[in-house]
Amino acid sequence: MDETAAAQDLMLLKRKVNELKQSIKPTDENVLELTAEYPQSPLSLKIDVLTAELDQILDAQTLERAKHYLSRLRKGIDESITGKVNDINILRWKEYTDIITDSLWIIDRRDSSGAHLGWYWGNFIPQIPHQLMLRYSKRREWVLDPFVGSGTTLIECRRLGRNGVGIELNPTVAQKAEELISQERNDFGIKADVIVGDSRSVDIGEILGGRGVSKVQLIIVHPPYHDIIRFSEDERDLSNAKDVGSFLSMLGQVVANVTPFLDEGRYLALVIGDKYQNGVWIPLGFRCMDVILSQGCYSLKSIIVKNFDETRAKRSQQELWRYRALVGGFYVFKHEYIFVFQKVKD
Ligand SMILES: C[S@@+](CC[C@H](N)C(=O)[O-])C[C@H]1O[C@@H](n2cnc3c(N)ncnc32)[C@H](O)[C@@H]1O
Repeated sequence: MDETAAAQDLMLLKRKVNELKQSIKPTDENVLELTAEYPQSPLSLKIDVLTAELDQILDAQTLERAKHYLSRLRKGIDESITGKVNDINILRWKEYTDIITDSLWIIDRRDSSGAHLGWYWGNFIPQIPHQLMLRYSKRREWVLDPFVGSGTTLIECRRLGRNGVGIELNPTVAQKAEELISQERNDFGIKADVIVGDSRSVDIGEILGGRGVSKVQLIIVHPPYHDIIRFSEDERDLSNAKDVGSFLSMLGQVVANVTPFLDEGRYLALVIGDKYQNGVWIPLGFRCMDVILSQGCYSLKSIIVKNFDETRAKRSQQELWRYRALVGGFYVFKHEYIFVFQKVKD
Protein backbone atom coordinates (compact mmCIF):
# COMPACT_ATOMS: atom_id res chain seq x y z
CA MET A 1 0.00 0.00 0.00
CA ASP A 2 2.90 2.33 0.74
CA GLU A 3 4.16 1.82 -2.79
CA THR A 4 0.72 2.36 -4.25
CA ALA A 5 0.17 5.56 -2.27
CA ALA A 6 3.52 6.92 -3.53
CA ALA A 7 2.54 6.53 -7.20
CA GLN A 8 2.67 9.84 -9.02
CA ASP A 9 0.39 9.14 -11.93
CA LEU A 10 -3.10 7.74 -12.10
CA MET A 11 -2.33 4.85 -14.47
CA LEU A 12 0.51 3.59 -12.28
CA LEU A 13 -1.58 3.91 -9.13
CA LYS A 14 -4.44 1.98 -10.70
CA ARG A 15 -2.08 -0.74 -11.90
CA LYS A 16 -0.81 -1.19 -8.35
CA VAL A 17 -4.32 -1.18 -6.92
CA ASN A 18 -5.27 -3.82 -9.46
CA GLU A 19 -2.30 -5.96 -8.38
CA LEU A 20 -3.46 -5.59 -4.77
CA LYS A 21 -6.95 -6.61 -5.77
CA GLN A 22 -5.74 -9.68 -7.69
CA SER A 23 -3.66 -10.77 -4.71
CA ILE A 24 -6.77 -11.12 -2.55
CA LYS A 25 -8.01 -14.68 -2.75
CA PRO A 26 -11.71 -15.24 -1.96
CA THR A 27 -12.43 -17.35 1.11
CA ASP A 28 -15.63 -19.10 2.25
CA GLU A 29 -15.78 -16.82 5.29
CA ASN A 30 -15.33 -13.68 3.14
CA VAL A 31 -12.55 -12.64 5.49
CA LEU A 32 -8.96 -11.57 4.85
CA GLU A 33 -6.68 -11.95 7.87
CA LEU A 34 -3.85 -9.43 8.10
CA THR A 35 -1.14 -10.65 10.41
CA ALA A 36 1.59 -8.22 9.34
CA GLU A 37 2.67 -5.30 11.51
CA TYR A 38 -0.59 -3.45 11.69
CA PRO A 39 -1.40 -1.47 14.82
CA GLN A 40 -4.48 -3.62 15.38
CA SER A 41 -2.87 -6.83 14.16
CA PRO A 42 -4.14 -9.48 13.77
CA LEU A 43 -6.86 -7.75 11.86
CA SER A 44 -9.58 -9.20 9.70
CA LEU A 45 -11.21 -7.40 6.79
CA LYS A 46 -14.36 -8.33 4.91
CA ILE A 47 -13.25 -9.20 1.40
CA ASP A 48 -16.36 -7.93 -0.39
CA VAL A 49 -16.12 -4.52 1.31
CA LEU A 50 -12.38 -4.28 0.64
CA THR A 51 -12.86 -5.23 -3.01
CA ALA A 52 -15.60 -2.62 -3.40
CA GLU A 53 -13.27 0.02 -1.97
CA LEU A 54 -10.48 -1.00 -4.33
CA ASP A 55 -12.98 -0.83 -7.22
CA GLN A 56 -13.90 2.69 -6.17
CA ILE A 57 -10.23 3.67 -6.47
CA LEU A 58 -10.04 1.99 -9.88
CA ASP A 59 -13.06 4.02 -11.02
CA ALA A 60 -11.58 7.36 -9.88
CA GLN A 61 -11.14 9.92 -12.65
CA THR A 62 -8.27 11.90 -11.11
CA LEU A 63 -5.07 11.06 -9.21
CA GLU A 64 -6.21 13.29 -6.37
CA ARG A 65 -9.53 11.43 -6.01
CA ALA A 66 -7.86 8.01 -6.20
CA LYS A 67 -5.41 9.03 -3.48
CA HIS A 68 -8.24 10.30 -1.33
CA TYR A 69 -10.03 6.91 -1.51
CA LEU A 70 -6.77 5.09 -0.89
CA SER A 71 -5.91 7.11 2.18
CA ARG A 72 -9.44 6.58 3.54
CA LEU A 73 -9.04 2.84 3.09
CA ARG A 74 -5.64 2.97 4.73
CA LYS A 75 -6.94 4.91 7.71
CA GLY A 76 -9.64 2.29 8.27
CA ILE A 77 -6.98 -0.40 8.39
CA ASP A 78 -4.40 1.45 10.47
CA GLU A 79 -6.67 3.19 12.95
CA SER A 80 -9.64 2.42 15.11
CA ILE A 81 -12.14 5.01 16.28
CA THR A 82 -14.87 3.68 18.50
CA GLY A 83 -17.69 5.48 20.27
CA LYS A 84 -18.49 5.53 23.98
CA VAL A 85 -20.96 2.67 24.07
CA ASN A 86 -19.69 -0.01 21.68
CA ASP A 87 -16.66 -1.38 19.86
CA ILE A 88 -17.79 -0.44 16.36
CA ASN A 89 -14.82 1.05 14.47
CA ILE A 90 -16.53 3.88 12.65
CA LEU A 91 -13.68 4.06 10.13
CA ARG A 92 -14.76 0.60 8.91
CA TRP A 93 -18.49 1.03 9.40
CA LYS A 94 -19.29 -0.57 6.06
CA GLU A 95 -18.06 -3.92 7.33
CA TYR A 96 -20.73 -4.22 10.03
CA THR A 97 -23.31 -5.62 7.67
CA ASP A 98 -24.57 -7.97 10.40
CA ILE A 99 -25.65 -5.09 12.65
CA ILE A 100 -29.26 -4.04 12.11
CA THR A 101 -29.95 -0.30 12.08
CA ASP A 102 -33.54 -0.36 10.78
CA SER A 103 -36.47 -0.24 13.20
CA LEU A 104 -38.25 -3.18 11.56
CA TRP A 105 -36.63 -6.54 12.32
CA ILE A 106 -37.74 -9.47 10.22
CA ILE A 107 -35.76 -12.42 11.50
CA ASP A 108 -36.70 -15.65 9.75
CA ARG A 109 -34.75 -18.14 11.72
CA ARG A 110 -33.75 -18.29 15.35
CA ASP A 111 -30.08 -18.86 16.09
CA SER A 112 -30.07 -22.38 17.52
CA SER A 113 -26.33 -22.90 17.52
CA GLY A 114 -24.28 -23.94 20.56
CA ALA A 115 -26.11 -23.75 23.88
CA HIS A 116 -29.08 -21.92 22.33
CA LEU A 117 -31.49 -24.85 22.48
CA GLY A 118 -34.66 -22.74 22.50
CA TRP A 119 -36.25 -25.18 24.99
CA TYR A 120 -37.89 -22.54 27.21
CA TRP A 121 -41.42 -21.52 26.34
CA GLY A 122 -41.30 -17.72 26.41
CA ASN A 123 -37.62 -17.21 25.64
CA PHE A 124 -36.45 -14.65 23.12
CA ILE A 125 -34.40 -15.36 20.05
CA PRO A 126 -30.65 -14.99 20.68
CA GLN A 127 -30.39 -12.41 17.91
CA ILE A 128 -32.11 -9.88 20.20
CA PRO A 129 -29.47 -9.75 22.98
CA HIS A 130 -26.79 -10.26 20.28
CA GLN A 131 -27.80 -7.12 18.40
CA LEU A 132 -28.32 -5.08 21.56
CA MET A 133 -24.92 -5.98 22.95
CA LEU A 134 -23.11 -5.16 19.72
CA ARG A 135 -24.73 -1.71 19.62
CA TYR A 136 -24.76 -0.84 23.31
CA SER A 137 -21.83 -2.51 25.03
CA LYS A 138 -18.12 -3.00 24.72
CA ARG A 139 -16.11 -6.13 25.26
CA ARG A 140 -15.59 -6.95 28.98
CA GLU A 141 -18.31 -4.54 30.08
CA TRP A 142 -21.22 -5.73 32.25
CA VAL A 143 -24.75 -6.64 31.15
CA LEU A 144 -27.66 -7.19 33.55
CA ASP A 145 -30.79 -9.19 32.69
CA PRO A 146 -33.38 -9.15 35.51
CA PHE A 147 -35.62 -11.75 33.79
CA VAL A 148 -32.98 -14.10 32.51
CA GLY A 149 -35.16 -17.22 32.10
CA SER A 150 -33.24 -19.84 30.13
CA GLY A 151 -30.12 -17.67 30.01
CA THR A 152 -30.19 -16.56 26.36
CA THR A 153 -28.59 -13.22 27.26
CA LEU A 154 -25.80 -14.86 29.21
CA ILE A 155 -25.00 -17.38 26.49
CA GLU A 156 -24.61 -14.38 24.14
CA CYS A 157 -22.43 -12.70 26.77
CA ARG A 158 -20.03 -15.61 26.56
CA ARG A 159 -19.98 -15.42 22.76
CA LEU A 160 -19.44 -11.70 22.57
CA GLY A 161 -17.09 -11.36 25.54
CA ARG A 162 -19.35 -9.34 27.85
CA ASN A 163 -19.66 -10.08 31.56
CA GLY A 164 -23.22 -10.81 32.59
CA VAL A 165 -25.51 -11.22 35.57
CA GLY A 166 -28.99 -12.65 35.23
CA ILE A 167 -31.74 -12.79 37.85
CA GLU A 168 -34.44 -15.46 37.70
CA LEU A 169 -37.24 -16.17 40.15
CA ASN A 170 -37.70 -19.84 39.30
CA PRO A 171 -34.83 -21.92 40.76
CA THR A 172 -35.41 -24.89 38.45
CA VAL A 173 -35.22 -22.69 35.36
CA ALA A 174 -32.19 -20.86 36.79
CA GLN A 175 -30.34 -24.13 37.34
CA LYS A 176 -30.99 -25.38 33.84
CA ALA A 177 -29.90 -21.99 32.46
CA GLU A 178 -26.62 -22.21 34.40
CA GLU A 179 -25.95 -25.68 33.03
CA LEU A 180 -26.45 -24.53 29.47
CA ILE A 181 -24.44 -21.34 29.91
CA SER A 182 -21.50 -23.37 31.19
CA GLN A 183 -21.64 -25.50 28.02
CA GLU A 184 -21.06 -22.45 25.81
CA ARG A 185 -17.40 -21.70 25.02
CA ASN A 186 -15.91 -18.89 27.05
CA ASP A 187 -13.09 -17.69 24.82
CA PHE A 188 -12.92 -14.27 26.48
CA GLY A 189 -12.91 -15.64 30.03
CA ILE A 190 -15.89 -13.56 31.14
CA LYS A 191 -18.25 -14.12 34.08
CA ALA A 192 -21.88 -15.02 33.38
CA ASP A 193 -23.88 -16.02 36.45
CA VAL A 194 -27.53 -16.62 37.23
CA ILE A 195 -28.82 -15.47 40.63
CA VAL A 196 -32.11 -16.82 41.95
CA GLY A 197 -34.26 -13.98 43.28
CA ASP A 198 -37.07 -11.50 42.87
CA SER A 199 -35.80 -8.70 40.65
CA ARG A 200 -38.03 -6.18 42.42
CA SER A 201 -36.07 -6.46 45.63
CA VAL A 202 -32.87 -8.45 45.11
CA ASP A 203 -29.80 -6.50 46.25
CA ILE A 204 -28.14 -5.62 42.94
CA GLY A 205 -25.40 -3.61 44.67
CA GLU A 206 -24.36 -6.65 46.67
CA ILE A 207 -24.49 -8.97 43.62
CA LEU A 208 -22.30 -6.62 41.59
CA GLY A 209 -20.01 -5.86 44.54
CA GLY A 210 -19.37 -9.59 44.90
CA ARG A 211 -18.06 -9.50 41.34
CA GLY A 212 -15.86 -6.48 41.86
CA VAL A 213 -18.00 -3.92 40.05
CA SER A 214 -20.52 -1.29 41.11
CA LYS A 215 -22.29 -0.55 37.82
CA VAL A 216 -23.39 -2.25 34.61
CA GLN A 217 -23.29 -0.77 31.11
CA LEU A 218 -26.39 -2.39 29.57
CA ILE A 219 -29.66 -3.73 30.97
CA ILE A 220 -31.89 -6.07 28.95
CA VAL A 221 -35.42 -6.44 30.33
CA HIS A 222 -37.61 -9.24 28.97
CA PRO A 223 -40.47 -9.65 31.44
CA PRO A 224 -43.50 -11.92 31.09
CA TYR A 225 -46.05 -10.35 28.75
CA HIS A 226 -48.34 -10.18 31.77
CA ASP A 227 -50.35 -13.44 31.89
CA ILE A 228 -49.89 -14.57 28.27
CA ILE A 229 -47.62 -17.34 29.61
CA ARG A 230 -47.79 -18.24 33.29
CA PHE A 231 -44.23 -19.00 34.31
CA SER A 232 -44.96 -20.32 37.83
CA GLU A 233 -47.40 -20.34 40.72
CA ASP A 234 -45.25 -17.86 42.62
CA GLU A 235 -47.15 -14.67 43.47
CA ARG A 236 -43.93 -12.67 43.06
CA ASP A 237 -43.87 -13.74 39.41
CA LEU A 238 -44.99 -10.86 37.14
CA SER A 239 -47.02 -13.33 35.09
CA ASN A 240 -49.25 -13.81 38.15
CA ALA A 241 -50.05 -10.11 38.59
CA LYS A 242 -53.81 -9.95 39.18
CA ASP A 243 -54.42 -7.30 36.53
CA VAL A 244 -52.57 -5.10 34.04
CA GLY A 245 -52.22 -2.29 36.59
CA SER A 246 -50.49 -4.57 39.09
CA PHE A 247 -48.26 -5.97 36.35
CA LEU A 248 -47.16 -2.46 35.38
CA SER A 249 -46.47 -1.54 38.96
CA MET A 250 -44.36 -4.70 39.47
CA LEU A 251 -42.40 -3.89 36.32
CA GLY A 252 -41.87 -0.36 37.64
CA GLN A 253 -40.42 -1.83 40.84
CA VAL A 254 -37.96 -3.98 38.88
CA VAL A 255 -36.83 -1.03 36.78
CA ALA A 256 -36.48 1.16 39.88
CA ASN A 257 -34.40 -1.57 41.53
CA VAL A 258 -31.93 -1.95 38.65
CA THR A 259 -31.68 1.62 37.34
CA PRO A 260 -29.33 3.02 40.02
CA PHE A 261 -26.76 0.44 38.85
CA LEU A 262 -26.74 1.49 35.20
CA ASP A 263 -24.00 3.92 34.22
CA GLU A 264 -25.27 7.32 33.11
CA GLY A 265 -25.37 7.63 29.32
CA ARG A 266 -25.82 3.88 28.90
CA TYR A 267 -28.81 1.88 27.68
CA LEU A 268 -31.74 -0.19 28.89
CA ALA A 269 -33.74 -2.24 26.38
CA LEU A 270 -37.23 -3.57 27.03
CA VAL A 271 -38.51 -6.52 24.98
CA ILE A 272 -42.29 -6.92 25.22
CA GLY A 273 -45.43 -7.78 23.28
CA ASP A 274 -49.06 -6.69 23.55
CA LYS A 275 -52.04 -8.79 24.62
CA TYR A 276 -55.75 -9.24 24.12
CA GLN A 277 -58.13 -9.22 27.06
CA ASN A 278 -61.83 -9.91 26.61
CA GLY A 279 -61.56 -9.13 22.92
CA VAL A 280 -59.78 -5.81 23.49
CA TRP A 281 -56.20 -5.07 22.39
CA ILE A 282 -54.15 -4.01 25.43
CA PRO A 283 -51.09 -2.05 24.27
CA LEU A 284 -48.92 -3.55 26.98
CA GLY A 285 -45.74 -2.52 25.16
CA PHE A 286 -46.57 1.18 25.17
CA ARG A 287 -47.87 1.07 28.71
CA CYS A 288 -44.59 -0.52 29.85
CA MET A 289 -42.71 2.13 27.86
CA ASP A 290 -44.56 4.80 29.85
CA VAL A 291 -43.69 3.06 33.12
CA ILE A 292 -40.00 3.28 32.24
CA LEU A 293 -40.19 6.88 31.04
CA SER A 294 -42.02 7.83 34.24
CA GLN A 295 -38.89 6.88 36.21
CA GLY A 296 -37.66 10.29 35.09
CA CYS A 297 -34.12 9.38 34.11
CA TYR A 298 -34.55 7.72 30.72
CA SER A 299 -35.02 9.14 27.26
CA LEU A 300 -36.53 7.02 24.49
CA LYS A 301 -34.01 6.30 21.72
CA SER A 302 -35.85 3.79 19.52
CA ILE A 303 -38.91 1.63 19.14
CA ILE A 304 -38.12 -1.51 17.17
CA VAL A 305 -40.86 -3.72 15.81
CA LYS A 306 -39.81 -7.34 15.52
CA ASN A 307 -41.73 -10.09 13.80
CA PHE A 308 -43.10 -12.72 16.10
CA ASP A 309 -41.29 -16.05 16.17
CA GLU A 310 -43.95 -18.65 15.62
CA THR A 311 -41.96 -21.70 14.68
CA ARG A 312 -43.28 -23.45 17.80
CA ALA A 313 -46.95 -22.82 17.07
CA LYS A 314 -48.67 -25.71 15.37
CA ARG A 315 -50.19 -25.17 11.96
CA SER A 316 -53.63 -26.15 13.24
CA GLN A 317 -53.35 -23.46 15.94
CA GLN A 318 -52.35 -20.86 13.38
CA GLU A 319 -55.34 -21.75 11.26
CA LEU A 320 -57.65 -21.54 14.25
CA TRP A 321 -56.38 -18.05 15.06
CA ARG A 322 -56.77 -16.98 11.45
CA TYR A 323 -60.34 -18.22 11.47
CA ARG A 324 -61.06 -16.44 14.76
CA ALA A 325 -59.50 -13.22 13.44
CA LEU A 326 -61.63 -13.32 10.29
CA VAL A 327 -64.78 -13.91 12.27
CA GLY A 328 -63.98 -11.65 15.20
CA GLY A 329 -62.71 -8.59 13.33
CA PHE A 330 -59.25 -8.46 14.88
CA TYR A 331 -55.66 -9.10 13.84
CA VAL A 332 -53.38 -11.89 15.03
CA PHE A 333 -50.25 -10.67 16.81
CA LYS A 334 -47.28 -10.93 14.49
CA HIS A 335 -44.93 -8.56 16.21
CA GLU A 336 -43.38 -7.54 19.49
CA TYR A 337 -41.40 -4.47 20.51
CA ILE A 338 -37.92 -3.61 21.61
CA PHE A 339 -37.88 -0.21 23.31
CA VAL A 340 -34.43 1.29 23.67
CA PHE A 341 -33.87 3.87 26.43
CA GLN A 342 -30.81 5.87 27.36
CA LYS A 343 -30.21 6.77 30.98
CA VAL A 344 -29.73 10.51 30.80
CA LYS A 345 -29.38 11.30 34.48
CA ASP A 346 -28.66 9.47 37.73
C1 LIG B 1 -40.21 -13.76 29.16
S1 LIG B 1 -39.30 -14.75 30.25
C2 LIG B 1 -37.63 -14.34 29.90
C3 LIG B 1 -37.03 -15.30 28.92
C4 LIG B 1 -35.57 -15.09 28.62
N1 LIG B 1 -35.31 -13.86 27.89
C5 LIG B 1 -35.03 -16.27 27.81
O1 LIG B 1 -34.58 -16.07 26.66
O2 LIG B 1 -35.12 -17.41 28.28
C6 LIG B 1 -39.59 -13.97 31.79
C7 LIG B 1 -38.90 -14.66 32.98
O3 LIG B 1 -39.06 -13.80 34.12
C8 LIG B 1 -39.13 -14.63 35.27
N2 LIG B 1 -39.73 -13.79 36.35
C9 LIG B 1 -41.03 -13.45 36.54
N3 LIG B 1 -41.15 -12.65 37.61
C10 LIG B 1 -39.91 -12.45 38.09
C11 LIG B 1 -39.39 -11.69 39.17
N4 LIG B 1 -40.17 -11.01 40.02
N5 LIG B 1 -38.05 -11.70 39.36
C12 LIG B 1 -37.22 -12.41 38.56
N6 LIG B 1 -37.66 -13.16 37.51
C13 LIG B 1 -38.98 -13.17 37.28
C14 LIG B 1 -39.98 -15.81 34.81
O4 LIG B 1 -39.77 -16.94 35.62
C15 LIG B 1 -39.47 -16.01 33.38
O5 LIG B 1 -38.45 -16.97 33.34
